[in-house]
Amino acid sequence: MLDKINQYAAEIAAIQPQNKVALEDFRITYLSKKGLISTLFENFKAVPNDQKKAIGGELNKLKQAAEAKLALLQEMLSNQGDDLKDDHFDYSLPTIPHQIGTRHPLWLVKNRIIEIFERMGFSIATGPEIEDDWHNFSALNFAENHPAREMQDTFFVNLNPDIALRTHTSSVQVRTMETQKPPIRILSPGRVFRNEAITARAHCFFHQIEGLYINENVSVKDLKQTLLYFAQEFFGKKTNIRMRPSYFPFTEPSVEVDISCQICGGKGCNVCKHSGWVEIMGAGMVDPNVLENCGIDSKKYTGFAFGMGIERITMLKYQIKDLRLFSENDVRFLRQFQHI
Ligand code: PHE
Repeated sequence: MLDKINQYAAEIAAIQPQNKVALEDFRITYLSKKGLISTLFENFKAVPNDQKKAIGGELNKLKQAAEAKLALLQEMLSNQGDDLKDDHFDYSLPTIPHQIGTRHPLWLVKNRIIEIFERMGFSIATGPEIEDDWHNFSALNFAENHPAREMQDTFFVNLNPDIALRTHTSSVQVRTMETQKPPIRILSPGRVFRNEAITARAHCFFHQIEGLYINENVSVKDLKQTLLYFAQEFFGKKTNIRMRPSYFPFTEPSVEVDISCQICGGKGCNVCKHSGWVEIMGAGMVDPNVLENCGIDSKKYTGFAFGMGIERITMLKYQIKDLRLFSENDVRFLRQFQHI
């Protein structure tokens, strides 16, 4: 019996209930009517008389130690709130809100553009960002001394001046014409690079989406109707377009395409510099030289091409004034586009 008393005494000394529920467990185990100490008192009746004094003294000490510990802990834990609330998860609490990321505005606008042209049968073509002179310039009819080849416009690779970062995704059109037979109807979205100082209106890299359609009997009418459909789907049904004569080495005739100003509806304002029109892209009929360079019979086939900057389209649509915002990754800017 003495062994048991010593064992319980050691247990009681070591035990450290951390909350009221654990303390109640302690009380029931050692001090309740059917607890371990009461059981010892029951058994004490059978202890031979000559041992009663010694064992009785130890047993009383054990009981007192347990009661003292209980009282002390009750005091210590009295500041703790209701056991159930402290110890159990409160399922009625609102959850911690998830911070869900948002799509980048350029990604959203690119996909919106693709979605519109896909309805007209265009499919996606991609190509390398590091290009050779042929695909970026020569096949596209750039003259040997064309200024776009100059160091101030293009990032060349020092060790090999035949290799450059592509300046437009027209290079993907060349690659497609070289490997596919007409009819060809592709869109080439992608990142392009130009050796420009970084300002609110220019950057050393940006994104383009270019289109190419080659078939028999393709004419300027097809180009104009395709771009009008795009402009009205993207900017709104009331949008009008106009074409101004321009020059690109790879198209003839070449045009710049304007849309009626979204802000003033054509009346004239700061955004359109009081002209009523804003430029959205370059376009034209593919120059026969380009078709021949890519192995396509220019007597049989004609085609149109167009190219726009995704940043520019996004800035026009959402009145964004600074190009740098697209690459700064400021979440206060990016979060505004989750629903477009
Ligand atoms: N490649 C031209 C540019 O980067 C855009 C363009 C594409 C113009 C197709 C006409 C036809 O500016």
